[in-house]
Amino acid sequence: MEKLRVAVLISGRGSNLQALIDACAEEGFPARIVVVISNTENAMGLERAERAGIPTKVIQHQEFADRAEFDAALERTIQNYDANFICLAGFMRLLTSGFVDSWHDRLINIHPSLLPSFRGLDTHARALAAGVRFSGCSVHFVRSEVDAGPIIVQAAVPVHPDDTPDTLAARVLTAEHRCYPLALRWIADGRVTVEGDVVRVAGARVPKKNLVNPGEH
Ligand code: GRF
Repeated sequence: MEKLRVAVLISGRGSNLQALIDACAEEGFPARIVVVISNTENAMGLERAERAGIPTKVIQHQEFADRAEFDAALERTIQNYDANFICLAGFMRLLTSGFVDSWHDRLINIHPSLLPSFRGLDTHARALAAGVRFSGCSVHFVRSEVDAGPIIVQAAVPVHPDDTPDTLAARVLTAEHRCYPLALRWIADGRVTVEGDVVRVAGARVPKKNLVNPGEH
């Protein structure tokens, strides 16, 4: 089977990009990253891509009159590299609904909360302020509403009583690096179907254990 040809869109650190790069380097992984696009020129993720020998492209949003023109430039680059799938990995620009609709079910994102809770920014501070006992991450298909769309995989992590937004972010990030490659692999293997808001992953197992936090003793 032909590998999925993935464009990864970033704005910063690129640790999720790195997780995808590492996964794609594994023997038999069904996807490959054909281009990494950043809307800022100093995104650390660009260096990660270069180190891995992946083409990079900077498309600075300030250089465009509006979102539609920026998205048109994105589209041209994605087409130039013949990508047929997009992963958003810490990409901090809102995409137009025209762009999002044209990549329906071929565009995924990772968000550092258990969606639909805590859409948007500052998720960890808001999760702590809300007193939730678990937080986590979600990989989901992108729809035009921000941080919404059918959920492919989630990981739950316990919130510790002494957590700060940073310590919680670090725990969630470890889970993100597991989840994003999993979701991409399942999609590229053709195991994922979307039925309305619900995603089915053929052959996926459900964990046997429930988590309780605080634990009992
Ligand atoms: C991650 O927490 C991701 O969930 C969110 O932005 C952050 C990007 O981090 N969308 P990195 O650039 O992948 O390290």
